Amino acid sequence: MAELKSYVRSLERSRQALTRTDRPEMFALANREWDVLGGVFSPAFSATTRVAMEVLGLVGDEEPGFWRRDGSFLEIGSGTGIIAVSAALAGCERVVATDINPDAVRNTEINAARHDMADRVRVVHSDLFSALDPAERFDTVYWHSNFVLAPDDYRYETEHERAYVDPGYRTHRRYLVEAPGLLTEGGSALLQFSDRGDLSLLHDMAAECGRTLRVLDGRSFLEGEERIEHLLLEIVVAD
Ligand SMILES: C[S@@+](CC[C@H](N)C(=O)[O-])C[C@H]1O[C@@H](n2cnc3c(N)ncnc32)[C@H](O)[C@@H]1O
Repeated sequence: MAELKSYVRSLERSRQALTRTDRPEMFALANREWDVLGGVFSPAFSATTRVAMEVLGLVGDEEPGFWRRDGSFLEIGSGTGIIAVSAALAGCERVVATDINPDAVRNTEINAARHDMADRVRVVHSDLFSALDPAERFDTVYWHSNFVLAPDDYRYETEHERAYVDPGYRTHRRYLVEAPGLLTEGGSALLQFSDRGDLSLLHDMAAECGRTLRVLDGRSFLEGEERIEHLLLEIVVAD
């Protein structure tokens, strides 16, 4: 279990994904093709994006009832943009995608244009919600996060590493605090998390911030020889 949660291994995964000579410039998922730029989290090397898409009902016919596909959708950490653009293609009337990595912002714009969704997907370079209009509200706020805990004093060596680890869970803490405040009445703040992360610490942090975490769905899958569990969590403001 310690191995599974090792941030050193996650950083190694980041380094390999960035430098592999067979790194493609395009990948296919959800019956569509997508561009992936050099410094951006590549869904071609990890099953996690496909699993996130499955849980959200963005692949296949299943339509989960926990988010409004015809509503407004804010994706934090859009990477290539596949989830944000797929949400627009699935019927969301307004989609905003953010990422802290400037290459991911450009990548999301490219894939929105590739699938004729540039008028429905606004892409913003932002550290979580900081560059958004503070008055804007969404039916769904979603982040497939960098769920592996790194030591508090770890300093990122590349922008790409931001897709893999979160030092001291500082960004997760801010997400727990801030995401519910961006919601329309009845909206959902969602977090795609994994047992590569420290779920127990996340629950403790949520409680400290006056939040509880509700498991909406989960998937177990193999990555290489490791069995990984992914959870979709809803952040609920405690009474
Ligand atoms: C696991 S990747 C998910 C990428 C994409 N959504 C996908 O599923 O393929 C996490 C993403 O969160 C972004 N991220 C990390 N910290 C962030 C922050 N403070 N604000 C916005 N995005 C952030 C990373 O740059 C990365 O693109």
